[in-house]
Amino acid sequence: MENSLAKWNGKVAVVTGASNGIGAEIAERLVENGMKVIGLARRVEVIERNAEKLVCKKGELHGIKVDMRNSQGVLEAFEIIEKKFGPINILVNNAGMGTNTTLSDGDIEKWKEVFDTNVIGLCVATKAAVTSMKKNNIDGHIIHINSVVGHKVPAGIELNVLPASKYAVTALTESLRLELLHRGSKIKITSISPGLVDTGFLATADMDVPPEGSPILRPRDVADAAIYVLSTPSHVQVNELTITPVGSRL
Ligand SMILES: NC(=O)c1ccc[n+]([C@@H]2O[C@H](COP(=O)([O-])OP(=O)(O)OC[C@H]3O[C@@H](n4cnc5c(N)ncnc54)[C@H](OP(=O)(O)O)[C@@H]3O)[C@@H](O)[C@H]2O)c1
Repeated sequence: MENSLAKWNGKVAVVTGASNGIGAEIAERLVENGMKVIGLARRVEVIERNAEKLVCKKGELHGIKVDMRNSQGVLEAFEIIEKKFGPINILVNNAGMGTNTTLSDGDIEKWKEVFDTNVIGLCVATKAAVTSMKKNNIDGHIIHINSVVGHKVPAGIELNVLPASKYAVTALTESLRLELLHRGSKIKITSISPGLVDTGFLATADMDVPPEGSPILRPRDVADAAIYVLSTPSHVQVNELTITPVGSRL
C-alpha cells in the first residue's frame, strides 16, 4: 500500500506564517523530506536565517515577504512562486493571530485584523494554490492549521473574535471539500486543530498566557500531524485531525 511522502519529493510546498512556531517547524520538516518549501511571512529575514541552517537537508527553503492581510500582495507572491519555483503541490495555511480586545467594548480594527489574517488571507492563498494545481493537473493537498477553538469556545479564557475566526476555518474546510468534490477534483483538504501549543502566539497577541506547567503541545507535534496527513495514500483524505496535550480540558 502506497503510504509515503515520496510523491512530494522536489515538489513546491507553500507554508504561510513560516517565520515562527508551528509554521517554522512544518517548513523545516517538509524541507527534511525533500520538498521545495516557500515560506511566507512579514519577517522574511527569519525564514532566510532558518533556510541557511537547512542547506544540508534534502529539500530547500526560500522566503517571500508577505502580509497576509494584503490580498493583492498574497496573489503576487503566488505568481512569483509559480514563475520562479514551479506549480504548487502543497499549501499549509498556517499564518494566524489573536488580539487582546473584547467583544463588549473592543477595538473594531483589531477584530478586522484577525479576520483579514485568519480568514480572508487563508481564502486568498487557497484560491491561488487551487488555481495553480488545477492549471497543472496536480492532485495537491491544502492544510488549514485550525484550532480546538474552531470547534468549541473554551470557558475560563477570553478570546474575543479568535474562536469565530477559527469556526470560519472549520466551515471553509468543509465548503472547499464539497466544492472540490462537486468539480470532480482530487485535491485534498485537511483541517488540523491543535490545542495549546508552545509558541509565541498568546504572548505576541498580549493575551493571557496559561499558568506555568499547563499541559501544552510542541510545534513538532503539529508538524508530525501535517507529515502524517501528507503521507496518506491517494485514496485517503483526513478531513479533520484534532490533537490536544494529555491532561488538557480543551
Ligand atoms: N499556539 C497555539 O496555542 C495554537 C493553538 C491552536 C492553533 N494555533 C494556530 O496555529 C497557527 C500558527 O500559530 P503559532 O502558534 O505558530 O503562532 P506564532 O508563533 O505567533 O506564529 C504565527 C506566524 O504567523 C505569521 N503571521 C501572523 N500574522 C501575519 C500576517 N499578517 N502576514 C503574514 N504572516 C503572519 C507570523 O509571521 P510574521 O509575524 O513574521 O508575519 C508567524 O510566522 C495559527 O493559525 C494559530 O491560530 C495555535
